[in-house]
Amino acid sequence: MKILLLGRGGQVGWELQRALAPLGSIVAVDFDCADYCGDFTNLDGLAATVRAVAPDVIVNAAAHTAVDKAESESDLARTINALAPGVLAREAAATGALLVHYSTDYVFDGSGDTPRDESAATAPLSVYGATKLEGEQLIQQSGCRHLIFRTSWVYAARGGNFAKTMLKLARERERLTIIDDQIGAPTGADLLADVTAHAIRTVQARPDLCGLYHLVAAGETSWHGYASFVIEFARRAGEVLAVNEIAPVPTTSFPTPAKRPLNSRLSTTKLQDTFKLTLPDWKTGVERMLVEILGK
Ligand SMILES: NC(=O)c1ccc[n+]([C@@H]2O[C@H](COP(=O)([O-])OP(=O)(O)OC[C@H]3O[C@@H](n4cnc5c(N)ncnc54)[C@H](OP(=O)(O)O)[C@@H]3O)[C@@H](O)[C@H]2O)c1
Repeated sequence: MKILLLGRGGQVGWELQRALAPLGSIVAVDFDCADYCGDFTNLDGLAATVRAVAPDVIVNAAAHTAVDKAESESDLARTINALAPGVLAREAAATGALLVHYSTDYVFDGSGDTPRDESAATAPLSVYGATKLEGEQLIQQSGCRHLIFRTSWVYAARGGNFAKTMLKLARERERLTIIDDQIGAPTGADLLADVTAHAIRTVQARPDLCGLYHLVAAGETSWHGYASFVIEFARRAGEVLAVNEIAPVPTTSFPTPAKRPLNSRLSTTKLQDTFKLTLPDWKTGVERMLVEILGK
């Protein structure tokens, strides 16, 4: 199997390089790759890359993920999050390749307090959410075989992440204020990559299982709950921390250019039933990541 992986340097892209390796040969490209155009603002270049590589599977881990910045650069966000995946889908439809793509709970407005399934009505609150939704739609309308995984609150040990920021602040400050009214599930890039590899293998034999799936770790928490878990773990691991109060505050305490959904809960029943998987609790993956970054 020949796989074209786009966005190889991102959180998910990095883990996909590992998880997809046993499936076949991988051509992994990034924004500034020397051999092939991996720049999502160059739509013709991107199409030429797909034609030159002639992959059986295209996996797109590239995206404009700067949610607040997207509000002031909506054309760029739309090109990267919608038009470029649309080009990949068109090329995949023409050659019969499978296209794997990632989307987000930000396609929803985050009202209510129950998990949304794949059939729930979309209503993005932000440019990021709207462009990601358009990307989904262009893929679905292209007629290509596809897997779209909507996920949330992605972290990885490599690079910066929320847990590392919390640990830094906890070392420096006695009091932290953290949002407690956005609810979701921190989801590891490693889990996303491993499930992707399993799903690709499955749909090779069962193309009828292609489609849209929600993919997040099990359980739920707030950013405040997530931060408290990280700080408690670090303290038990012997880290010297200055923090003695983690105060819960509403989203309105931290005004941002982009509006974020309060309810990021996603139902993963369809994915677990279809691919016969059990998604682990979010704490399992976060603990692993903390062991890696703390070196304990
Ligand atoms: N992060 C989250 O919390 C989250 C939540 C829900 C869904 N998702 C989705 O999950 C997928 C993977 O996200 P992630 O967390 O791995 O994101 P990430 O770490 O920000 O990686 C995105 C990748 O896209 C690349 N990229 C940006 N602009 C590009 C361009 N013009 N051409 C080519 N590549 C470009 C980035 O390169 P540079 O680093 O060089 O800019 C980076 O390698 C995305 O579809 C995202 O929308 C993420």
